[in-house]
Amino acid sequence: MKHLLKLSDWSAEEINECLNLADQLKYEKKAGIEHHLLKGKTLGMIFEKASTRTRVSFEVGMYDLGGSALFLSSRDLQIGRGEPVQDTARVLSRFLDGIMIRTFAQSEVEALAEYGSIPIINGLTDYCHPCQVLADLMTIREHKGSLKGKKLCYIGDGNNMTNSLIVGGIKTGMEVSVACPKGYTPDAELMKWADENGKFSRHEDVLEAAKGADVLYTDVWASMGQESEAEERKNIFKGYQINDSVIAVANEGAMVLHCLPAHREEEITAKVFEEHANEIFDEAENRLHAQKAVLVLCMK
Ligand code: CP
Ligand code: NVA
Repeated sequence: MKHLLKLSDWSAEEINECLNLADQLKYEKKAGIEHHLLKGKTLGMIFEKASTRTRVSFEVGMYDLGGSALFLSSRDLQIGRGEPVQDTARVLSRFLDGIMIRTFAQSEVEALAEYGSIPIINGLTDYCHPCQVLADLMTIREHKGSLKGKKLCYIGDGNNMTNSLIVGGIKTGMEVSVACPKGYTPDAELMKWADENGKFSRHEDVLEAAKGADVLYTDVWASMGQESEAEERKNIFKGYQINDSVIAVANEGAMVLHCLPAHREEEITAKVFEEHANEIFDEAENRLHAQKAVLVLCMK
């Protein structure tokens, strides 16, 4: 059974297969070519956190593929009242053909896969956001022609996005650098893996990390679930921002990406955001095409 629990579970070949299929599905959608590859199938979408892009891309994606999607808020499910994930997994496996889940603990996603008998797709946990990174890689390839050898620089909190970007970047042959404040670095095991498997560097200095970058990436200073730390984080992350000084040290024509939602004048200036809006909203659109590719690969 094929799941997408975290990007490190997928080989470079599987990632490339997904990116190629996403390109094809995008082309077909724009050309008005129907692709009902999941006709009659139903996806359950469990959300324990808010979402715009993930929810809409998976829901529209299932529709495009000839199937249907159920939005399941944890506030309304028994899981929100303490029904164990192990039981939820076994029940939902009797009704559905696949589950996409957005939650806090990575262990919950892993437990769904262990106890269920249908494909499980991770729609974001505190640990990672694999679906977003597949759309990001697709967008970089579209704009830059290829991934291998390009330098991807992430600036900000070493969070779920950073963890998945490191894996996706290294697996596709990109050079990856990260600039994060002390104490807010990405997962230590993942950084060790990146050191051993590709060109990876970590910095506290933003300009050091951004030097020669082909892609600059950032994300919010306080993620979902960290709302109470937001004020404290504003001080800690001051300077961990994509602005004109950062653009100046990157390669000419460097792209700027943001998974969104964005906080202007925090992790990115409004000016840089608007100057790169074309890339950022291509990236958002590609959630649809990339998520459809994930659905087909896992559920067909
Ligand atoms: N980037 C992303 O996952 O957006 P949503 O939180 O809106 O799904
Ligand atoms: N790091 C952010 C990503 C949102 C798509 C969060 O977890 O809130």
